[in-house]
Amino acid sequence: MAMIRIDKYLADMSVGTRSQIKKLIREKRVTINGETVKKSDMKISKETIVYVDDQEIRYMDYEYYLLNKPAGYISAAEDNFTPTIMELVGSFRHDLFPVGRLDKDTYGAILITNDGQLCHNLLSPDRHVEKKYYFECEPDLPLDAPEILAKPITFKDFVSQPAELQIVDRNKGYLTLKEGKYHQVKRMIAYLGCQVTYLRRDSFAFLNLDNLAVGQYRTLNDEEVEKLKEICGM
Ligand code: URA
Repeated sequence: MAMIRIDKYLADMSVGTRSQIKKLIREKRVTINGETVKKSDMKISKETIVYVDDQEIRYMDYEYYLLNKPAGYISAAEDNFTPTIMELVGSFRHDLFPVGRLDKDTYGAILITNDGQLCHNLLSPDRHVEKKYYFECEPDLPLDAPEILAKPITFKDFVSQPAELQIVDRNKGYLTLKEGKYHQVKRMIAYLGCQVTYLRRDSFAFLNLDNLAVGQYRTLNDEEVEKLKEICGM
């Protein structure tokens, strides 16, 4: 049975920072089976139900979030100089990481989890998980842009798979990719002779931004997690 320190258990479940949790324990606000917890290094099993005041807390091994990333944040677990998207998610867990990357100036849908296997499978090139991007560019797109991107293109480090481009205006469109190479959207649009001036990922697999405002995140529900696992063969 997996054992864990009570302060880590509560920090993982976002009750507070380690020092806030120590304070809760000192104030005798943490109980197990009606008994007050006295030490923050007490070891308990992950199955234990813990109460903070009257609030019941159960341990969850994995967490899954969908964030609408703002520009100005990097998609990394930590960085000493630039704000990371982790700062936008209200979890105290230290084991969370983004599933793939969006550039610092890109907006939109990004998954954050601590489920390494799911992350690995979702990013595997064999899984062909679809991502849909909205972009604006300058100058205007060539009229035959959809036909050009529908064929494989040879870049210096990879050959792109056929991609679907829907033009919505002369300098705006949606590009759907089933792969995720470095700066792929910007490079494919550059291949057309245009420069991306705005980029947003609207969906990752079946997960859409819907009403999620820029900078906001939500927890995935069990059904969504199961569906993600299904599409990547878990
Ligand atoms: N393609 C890009 O060029 N940038 C991103 O952030 C994502 C896809």
